[in-house]
Amino acid sequence: MKLLEDRIRKDGVVLGADVLKVDNFLNHQVDPDLMLAVGKEFYNQFKDSKITKILTVESSGIAPALATAMSFHVPLVFARKHKSLTLKDDMFTATVYSFTKQTSNTIAIAKKFLSADDKVLIIDDFLANGQAVQGLTDIIKQAGAETVGAGIVIEKTFQKGRKMFDDQGVRVVSLARIAAFEDGQVVFADEQDA
Ligand code: G4P
Ligand code: NA
Ligand code: NA
Repeated sequence: MKLLEDRIRKDGVVLGADVLKVDNFLNHQVDPDLMLAVGKEFYNQFKDSKITKILTVESSGIAPALATAMSFHVPLVFARKHKSLTLKDDMFTATVYSFTKQTSNTIAIAKKFLSADDKVLIIDDFLANGQAVQGLTDIIKQAGAETVGAGIVIEKTFQKGRKMFDDQGVRVVSLARIAAFEDGQVVFADEQDA
């Protein structure tokens, strides 16, 4: 998605070897027009899949997930994060390990908001190691629902997540695919192939 790649070039800040800071339009300040365009693009990609629900994890997934839900006119459910959680029968839960932060969180969704007849589209801001998306697919399985696919705003193709979902046969659509950071600059996968 050219609009997004242009915005990453303009406002993204590369931190160290593998982190892109995008707090100008996605992770802190949010650009509503860009989110609207993101939501419409995910709609175009998944509109034939009879999606009944959008799932994400708080907090940075919520903005693109809401924009997507507005295009589909289906509910958005965001998993809540807990440092630790006493198991409750009315919640589906999964453990999500962050390689970046080296911490584990439990993510939880109330059972009443996900059922066996749901066809779910997962939306997230980043795909890095894929742990957040994996946690959501686990929860969708527990509900007996179907994961139709995942829509990712920014994918880093050099981390583990993409391969993991390709191996599992989960359809992943990413609107910007970053192949590398070189000298503090972003190299997109489509330029690398070119
Ligand atoms: P994973 O879900 O792909 O396994 O992510 P990982 O553990 O590697 O990353 C932990 C957190 O860092 C996640 O946010 C993820 O979205 C975010 N992240 C990963 N790579 C980047 C990056 O290059 N730039 C930015 N800005 N964020 C990145 P979180 O802590 O779960 O969520 P939230 O509270 O921000 O929503
Ligand atoms: Na994040
Ligand atoms: Na996220």
